[in-house]
Amino acid sequence: DRQESIRNFCIIAHIDHGKSTLADRMLERTGALTEREMSAQVLDQMDLERERGITIKLQAVRLKYSASDGEQYQLNLIDTPGHVDFSYEVSRSLAACEGALLVVDAAQGIQAQTLANVYLALEHDLEIIPVVNKIDLPSANPEAVIKELEDIIGINGDEVILASAKTGEGIGEILDAIVERIPSPAVDSNKPLRALIFDSHFDSYKGAIPYIRVVDGRVKKGMEIKMMSSGRVFEVNEVGVFTPAMKMVDTLSAGEVGFLSASCKEVRDTRVGDTITTVKNGADKPLPGYRKATPMVFCGLFPVDSNDYEDLRDALDRLQLNDASLVFEPETSVALGFGFRCGFLGMLHMEIVQERLEREYKINLITTAPNVIYEVTTPNNEVLNIDNPTNLPAEVEKIAEPFVKATVMVPDDYVGPVMELCQEKRGRYETMEYLSELRVILTYYLPLSEIIYDFYDQLKSRTRGYASLDYELTAYRESNLVKLDILINGEVVDALSCIVHRDKAYYRGRNLTSKLKELIPRQMFEIPIQAAIGNKVIARVTVKALRKNVLDKCYGGDITRKKKLLEKQKEGKKRMKQVGNVEIPQEAFMAVLSID
Ligand code: GTP
Repeated sequence: DRQESIRNFCIIAHIDHGKSTLADRMLERTGALTEREMSAQVLDQMDLERERGITIKLQAVRLKYSASDGEQYQLNLIDTPGHVDFSYEVSRSLAACEGALLVVDAAQGIQAQTLANVYLALEHDLEIIPVVNKIDLPSANPEAVIKELEDIIGINGDEVILASAKTGEGIGEILDAIVERIPSPAVDSNKPLRALIFDSHFDSYKGAIPYIRVVDGRVKKGMEIKMMSSGRVFEVNEVGVFTPAMKMVDTLSAGEVGFLSASCKEVRDTRVGDTITTVKNGADKPLPGYRKATPMVFCGLFPVDSNDYEDLRDALDRLQLNDASLVFEPETSVALGFGFRCGFLGMLHMEIVQERLEREYKINLITTAPNVIYEVTTPNNEVLNIDNPTNLPAEVEKIAEPFVKATVMVPDDYVGPVMELCQEKRGRYETMEYLSELRVILTYYLPLSEIIYDFYDQLKSRTRGYASLDYELTAYRESNLVKLDILINGEVVDALSCIVHRDKAYYRGRNLTSKLKELIPRQMFEIPIQAAIGNKVIARVTVKALRKNVLDKCYGGDITRKKKLLEKQKEGKKRMKQVGNVEIPQEAFMAVLSID
């Protein structure tokens, strides 16, 4: 039977522990790619991903493997993204598998997010194959990592495979373990169709292409299918698999992994986690675990040149075709004019979108500081969701903000600095456990707004890069929050308003005004900069009036230096925004992120 020879698995690994390299080795070993084709890593396709060295998009590759038992197997490798912003996507790809390779760097050991994903995999009853990678490194300490795997996850040390994705050592053993240890999918092709969407991409000819794991029944060309969350109906044009190139097949049956195309206009029609069934004799219950991706972080995006507004809208529309979790709506700022308020899954997602807009669509942007969604209760008991500090009503009964449960893994030498940081960030201590003699896992409840500021950077710098972080949203809790306004030359600049904890407002206000003083160039007149809560000014600085021409700075009339200065000034101008009669550089709108 065909299903008996199927193995569906994914790879769980921390960033840089070698997931892509290992995947490439497996593709090579199974003949999916020749060595020449391997020159570039295949699984990470987007440029941005490669530059940042992280995997964002999921992929699914079908490999043919002749195992040492002489049988032919169909291995479906489902790639998972390695960043906390995309943990829901990870959970859906795990749900499409029966097993997981747990890859841990032999020199670094288990990291917080790896552990979180292992727990997820265990919840889904996946068979875990532990792999200690990079054993070729001089600094490798596989015994210590095996001990961690035993102590922390309860893995039997004898089951650990030692490997090097670099030299190819252990790859055959891994492939055999996939066949021997991971069960084939338990399925029924005669039931009504239920297929789990675990990813999708947008193709300009074929529309949105959902990547699916068929759980029950079968799907083939010509079928009328229905997306169970929306009830929308489509006709299947093609079904296929990735080898890794797209290859059409006749049918995808229960247990199999592949894709289909059905003229879906947007990826929003093919939501990750949704269930596909047939229109006729369809399933009555969707697969468990679907939820709509909810943006957690918001910011304003404004074109530097207001003539670019329509281009910005088009670019966002296009990005959204491929990214169902990006949301945006028009926003008008007194200071910055017409733009968009955009919602993202997290900070990385936000940075990726901004970078793509600037790089691929060549739009110069002014970005306002990111914020979370606040739950605001008004005096007449109305509850508002506020995603823009400017819209906070003057009279509020209470404000609640999202909290996360954060786990930090760190060598025990650094417990002190990590605790200090969590305290500073309004954290509430939960637990501390020893993972091994030298490593500790700390749990804190922290406001998400503090995490999106500079928590991660601070964590890394205070632990010399040794700490790793994972977090999940828990609940909204009331906090003593106020709106901090910034006035430049007597006018409130709406795009600079932020919501802060009352205890931190003075400190923030002082720091933000002095930072702005550094950033706003002197002009022909004096510019007062104030921070205020309501009508109460809590900090004030002044940018002195310009007396000298910028060129006076050059001594001796050095012409190249003069040119450079002028060019620099011109360059600066591009990113300036005229607010009232003051020119404000774009960095000023992000200044709030660079203080503390
Ligand atoms: P993400 O795509 O961000 O999840 O990273 P990744 O886990 O896919 O890591 P990747 O495969 O890109 O490897 C990270 C770095 O480690 C690269 O520079 C690899 O060349 C290197 N690397 C991977 N496996 C090995 C190994 O077995 N030995 C050594 N020495 N280096 C390795």
